[in-house]
Amino acid sequence: MSVQIDHLHSESGSRRFAPTAEFSAQAEASPELYSDAQADRLGFWADQSRELLHWHKPFTKILDWTNPPFAKWFDDGELNVAYNCLDRHVEAGNGDRVALHFEGEPGDSRDITYAELTAEVKRATNVLIKLGVKSGDRVAIYLPMIPEAVISMLAVARLGAVHSVIFGGFSAESLRSRIDDANAVLVITADGGFRKGRISALKPAVDAALQSGDSSVQNVLVVKRTGQDVEWNDRDLWWHDELASVEAEHVAEAFPAENPLFILYTSGTTGAPKGILHTSGGYLTQGAFTHKNVFDLKPETDVYWCTADVGWITGHTYVVYGPLANGATQVLFEGTPDSPHPGRWWEIIEKYKVSILYTAPTAIRTFMKLGRQIPQKFDLTSLRVLGSVGEPINPEAWMWYREVIGGNITPVVDTWWQTETGAIMVSAIPGLTETKPGAAQVAIPGIAIDVLDDDGTHVGHGNGGLLVVTEPWPAMLRGIWGDPERFKETYWDKFEGTTGAKDGPLYFAGDGARLDDDGDIWLLGRVDDVMNVSGHRLSTAEIESSLVAHPLTAEAAVVGASDEVTGQAVVAFVVIKFSQAETASHEDISAVLRAHVSQQIGAIARPREIFIVDELPKTRSGKIMRRLLRDVAEGREVGDTSTLADTSVMQIITQKMK
Ligand code: PRX
Repeated sequence: MSVQIDHLHSESGSRRFAPTAEFSAQAEASPELYSDAQADRLGFWADQSRELLHWHKPFTKILDWTNPPFAKWFDDGELNVAYNCLDRHVEAGNGDRVALHFEGEPGDSRDITYAELTAEVKRATNVLIKLGVKSGDRVAIYLPMIPEAVISMLAVARLGAVHSVIFGGFSAESLRSRIDDANAVLVITADGGFRKGRISALKPAVDAALQSGDSSVQNVLVVKRTGQDVEWNDRDLWWHDELASVEAEHVAEAFPAENPLFILYTSGTTGAPKGILHTSGGYLTQGAFTHKNVFDLKPETDVYWCTADVGWITGHTYVVYGPLANGATQVLFEGTPDSPHPGRWWEIIEKYKVSILYTAPTAIRTFMKLGRQIPQKFDLTSLRVLGSVGEPINPEAWMWYREVIGGNITPVVDTWWQTETGAIMVSAIPGLTETKPGAAQVAIPGIAIDVLDDDGTHVGHGNGGLLVVTEPWPAMLRGIWGDPERFKETYWDKFEGTTGAKDGPLYFAGDGARLDDDGDIWLLGRVDDVMNVSGHRLSTAEIESSLVAHPLTAEAAVVGASDEVTGQAVVAFVVIKFSQAETASHEDISAVLRAHVSQQIGAIARPREIFIVDELPKTRSGKIMRRLLRDVAEGREVGDTSTLADTSVMQIITQKMK
């Protein structure tokens, strides 16, 4: 892997925003968090865990790192994750607090209190028991952003089983491969969801995924959301019928801290998605800690809204587990930002008086393009903290977010983390950190981050390199489902044997970063063949193999080209099979292949553009030089071509593009 550290940002910290005295005076986080963590990192996490969570059986051990990279946190303790998110708030007298302000896409809404959510989860857990689901079993969840998605996840967690949430935008084939990889025994889905004023079906994809009949799935539990007709099979059961058929009471049992909580699939550099495994006690500790301190959460008064779908890690940690563990009141929104009108989000913020908003740069850039007159029609003065996640936020978008949405006063926190890290790792803390537009800035207390060059040497202030985590952390992934070797290779082998790794293995995140003159961290994007489209990770290899699987295609190379709105966009270069070359126009071939990728992986992976070329640029050893294709896709002068086997290839490609 060659390391290319591009300076994507021209800004390097000239603008700064110190916290206001008023904000600091009321902030949840105090400077002692940093000094305490500095003085005793493990003791700090143990204190946080005891303070933020209820342990049925208190732990006496903090970290077991005797067999790296397989960590165990709070190993001899026992807890129930769902009890921590539900029952204990009711027992503490907060049952009447709204947990979810659900806002449906068609405009229907429903407030669900902690007492109601707890009751629903208890029933759903009893349904799972009735269907034979046991602790350790895997349950696939394929739902829209409706309360039942949250209820399902918590019911699975309550039982000590393992959920695998699959984003509703993924196709039947993606669903099938994820169900098979985890050997799921149950799928929870819905007839469909609402999207942009229309019904978007889900059940047919589940039917297609299970069509061959040889799957591990015993039952499909179907939530009625849209009410359209659905095909019905013997294994199918209606959610509402089943919930009505079971007892209301369920007592949460304690499970070991390292009991698996969920698998979440994410793209890697090779074709097959990786099932990232997270466990219970450490994950919930860091999720709750960061949610409280990074967003300055006051559960009694704040209305929090994270716009991510539960199908992604942000939805897991900052819609479900973090906020609910902290007893927060939050908005859950089924729809999209621009439907039925481009002010929908701002209308929701006004309606519920949202005080904390957590969203992605791609959304912010879309709103910037539409213009400030849209948010300015709404009362956004309830907002007091703004967060960003998913990709580097350019300083311009950061400033717009603060000025236009935050009324020029709210702190903006840019939070860096990954599916693998489970929770926020690098972020400013409002009330403590002087923020810099465009920088993720500092490791959160208790997290050890460094920026190293290829041979493991610290790069020093003012320089770029690779982002690494140097010490195990509570919410770290515990592995890749069923593939311990791939886990080691992907994340832990990169710096093995280097001086940097002399005190223990280093976690390589796959991101480039730069330290500015103050030592603050600026993220520079991926350094491997993973791209980031609208804050979602897609692997070039996965899309390439989908393209090559089509009978028209002989070869394909996919690159992420920078895109004003989505951060990166999928651009494909394909060589059409000789036998097929004359049969259709370029437009037709491109339309067919775009539809094919959409059907195989999902609409998020559909290429923005497909270029049909005669040959791909390759090195003498046959490696595709994506760097050169990226230059073409981004309309730049093509870089150094001296290592190409045939240097004329790039000339021909660029000629064709003109
Ligand atoms: O490249 C980084 C980028 O998103 C990747 C992780 O993607 P995923 O696992 O889908 O999780 C996204 C939500 C946590 C990272 O390797 N990324 C995430 N947050 C930031 C970011 N890049 C720059 N700045 C961020 N704040």
